[in-house]
Amino acid sequence: MYKIKRISLLLFVIIISMAMVACGSPNETTSGENGVNGSFVGEAEGHNGKIKLNVTVENSEISKIDIVENSESEFTKEVFDKLFKSIISKNSTEIDTVSGATVTSEAVVIAVNDAIEKAGITLTPKKVSEKDAEVKDVSTDIVVIGGGGAGLTAAIEAKENDADVILVEKNAFVGGNTNLATGGLNAAETKYQSENGIEDSAELFFEDTMKGGKNKNNPELVKILTEKSAETVDWLTEKGVDLTDVGVAGGASVERIHRPTGGAAIGAHLVETLEKKAKELGVDIRVSTKAIEILNDEGKATGIKVEDENGNPYNINAKAVIIATGGFGADQEKVVEFKPELKGFGTTNAPVATGDALNLVKSFNAELVDINEIQTHPTVVPEKNKMITEAVRGNGAILINRDAKRFIDELETRDVVSAAELEQEGQTAFLIFDQNVRESLKAIEGYHKAGLLIEADSVEELGKAIDINGTELKNTIDTYNSYVNNGKDKDFNRENMKTELNKAPFYAVEVGPAVHHTMGGLKINTEAQVISKSGEIIEGLFAAGEVTGGIHGANRLGGNALSDITTFGRIAGKNAASLVK
Ligand code: FUM
Repeated sequence: MYKIKRISLLLFVIIISMAMVACGSPNETTSGENGVNGSFVGEAEGHNGKIKLNVTVENSEISKIDIVENSESEFTKEVFDKLFKSIISKNSTEIDTVSGATVTSEAVVIAVNDAIEKAGITLTPKKVSEKDAEVKDVSTDIVVIGGGGAGLTAAIEAKENDADVILVEKNAFVGGNTNLATGGLNAAETKYQSENGIEDSAELFFEDTMKGGKNKNNPELVKILTEKSAETVDWLTEKGVDLTDVGVAGGASVERIHRPTGGAAIGAHLVETLEKKAKELGVDIRVSTKAIEILNDEGKATGIKVEDENGNPYNINAKAVIIATGGFGADQEKVVEFKPELKGFGTTNAPVATGDALNLVKSFNAELVDINEIQTHPTVVPEKNKMITEAVRGNGAILINRDAKRFIDELETRDVVSAAELEQEGQTAFLIFDQNVRESLKAIEGYHKAGLLIEADSVEELGKAIDINGTELKNTIDTYNSYVNNGKDKDFNRENMKTELNKAPFYAVEVGPAVHHTMGGLKINTEAQVISKSGEIIEGLFAAGEVTGGIHGANRLGGNALSDITTFGRIAGKNAASLVK
């Protein structure tokens, strides 16, 4: 017995020692002849929480960096790889941040510095030559500018129609603003709606979209958007995108917003799936490559001039150019230029959304439409600029002011809800929901993980936690629950009240409006061809997604952005491909 115990103990020690060697035991130093060796854990606060890195040091140089803990979004995987490579090759944390991921980049640098401090060493930087000697011009059939949802969709469609495609993305990773999309994609007459017994039609979808856009939308474009939406859902499903869950979004008469199972956030999943498909098909994706000019041969687009990540310029000659650079919601200066009343507002947009196309198309005299129409999203966490998806309201949450009172039909269109919030004390409101709502929507787990939710075991305690009268809050919720039971909201006529708010714990998050979508942009026709100020088609130039204007009129409905970028992305890709055959 004693012997067995002794053998087990020995085995235990051996296993632990092996594990420590394999993982690199944290913060263990040995000083050799050539310097310090060991592994050291450093940490910092990232975008979504703590980042912990294990930094391996050999002879006082960084030889390896591993992630120990990380809550950053999926799409930052490539950002970490790029930063680690850069730090290791330079043996220095004096590196450029990755565009589009500044907060994550800075956190990585701080965490590595923390580890290096624990190692007690000073890094001696290595010289790395940054400029390539020569970058050669290339030729292809189609070049796509922008690797968000519209660009990836266009590239796939063009490639499937036998064209050679190069896609350039200025960020170090693809996805752009689409990476942050949460709510879902609107479509009517889909198989998922019929599986769930939801009656809808392209006509009703058309009417809702026109009404939401205050009839400022181009009806021809809206017709295409709404009539082709079910086909787009099938196309995306065939590529592997999960759109099985159907829910409610503001301004929609029926359940029409399609999203992954359980109501998970859609953006990163959509991007990952499309990127994988594009790569499988052989689309040449060039990240960290910024388009600086669209080549203009007597009014015809013949390719683009780009700069690679080291600033080396080269031309990509092409028979057609597809612009999919997104909107300008992250460019505060442009936002204020076109809509001065939005000065000082936050934004839900990824830093990449800077409206680059507005400069790129200047030599083509391209027409812009609805450029002053900029939308705010009403449920964005102040300062943090984290959007809480409309789907939380769609699945049952309510909005209350500091008097603990509801003040609007929570599923009104975004312009209406945003305006109502701005009339409340503090110009913000509290989004309130219960455990039923949380369990109905996977996207909420992300907010919980990011520490955005205030939680309490009773409504009264929740009131206390957010500094409003708990008894009043209880009255408001009881009244709302009675409306849910009776199927009639006597105060605001909210039509869709999914669930009573009665299951603890209860949750609150302070929200207000922030810039979300720029409805205006390049004028296109139904073939996604860019139109000039003189009303002519600009030869060889196509555009899709938020860079275009006219589809959403004065106000976009939640779920229509993804519908727009994928349907018009497909149209642009297909038509560009047919042009080059
Ligand atoms: O609230 C949201 O999830 C946003 C959706 C959208 O802008 O389409």
